Amino acid sequence: MSANQHHAKTFNPNALNMVQVATYDRLILAPLVRVWENVLDWEHLPYLHDTSFNYVELDTGGQWGWRTWSNADHTDHVELTLASADSYVARSYQAGHQVSEIWTTLTDVYDSTQVQVRFFMPNIEENKIEKLGQLMTSLYTQLWDEDEAMMQQRHKRLHEHRDDRPERILGEQASIRSKLAGGDAVIFQIKRREYQIAEVDGRLVAISTICPHLMGPLLAIDTHGGLVRCPWHGYQFDINSGKCVFPEHADCTLPAAPELNLSNGNIIARMS
Ligand code: FES
Ligand SMILES: [Fe+2]
Repeated sequence: MSANQHHAKTFNPNALNMVQVATYDRLILAPLVRVWENVLDWEHLPYLHDTSFNYVELDTGGQWGWRTWSNADHTDHVELTLASADSYVARSYQAGHQVSEIWTTLTDVYDSTQVQVRFFMPNIEENKIEKLGQLMTSLYTQLWDEDEAMMQQRHKRLHEHRDDRPERILGEQASIRSKLAGGDAVIFQIKRREYQIAEVDGRLVAISTICPHLMGPLLAIDTHGGLVRCPWHGYQFDINSGKCVFPEHADCTLPAAPELNLSNGNIIARMS
């Protein structure tokens, strides 16, 4: 499988009157490996970046990059191509016309990544360059802020040490219920997994705090309807069965939860 765009790895393959409107340089405090994962991850766009994207649908993808529809009518699309060992290019099209070409170079700097983005657009008049440049720079500042937080969280989760004990005394039931009622999270670790306590239909249950897809946070839980949702790619899980109910193709399940038992007024979590 390869890019649809002919000569995708070259600058301005459609031979338009390209104008560079801005350059954006930034040190991302996450390692290069996390940044490349993020580049290939088209699925997070309308969830992690929900104020910037409202639709994404995969058309095709592979080791070369990906091509996604930007609207349900399939008139607009984005194609991202890995151009070299340290660069990629994203081209946006509306109704068959290319509207932008954005080149990004990534450089490994110890545990961080230096990013340089160059924004090109066709047929931009001289007096519009500055304004468009500012718009693109501020959009990319927000996108990279959101991506950086996600990459840091995933990196931390991948490398953290979690408690291995099979049983934990979590505290008095009354105090746990009052914390939950006040909106505070009650989190604990057991058998190298992390869980939170939630009240579902009056019952206290343990639910993973870590999304089984790519380790996103299931912390801000909304147990309404018996579902828990991850903010990174929008996956939704049934609290009772653990099954992923959205998207349909997803092949991941919440990890088994420990039982919560009451003993002398205390809640005890135990992995069976
Ligand atoms: S990490 Fe992808 S949906 Fe949770
Ligand atoms: Fe992103």
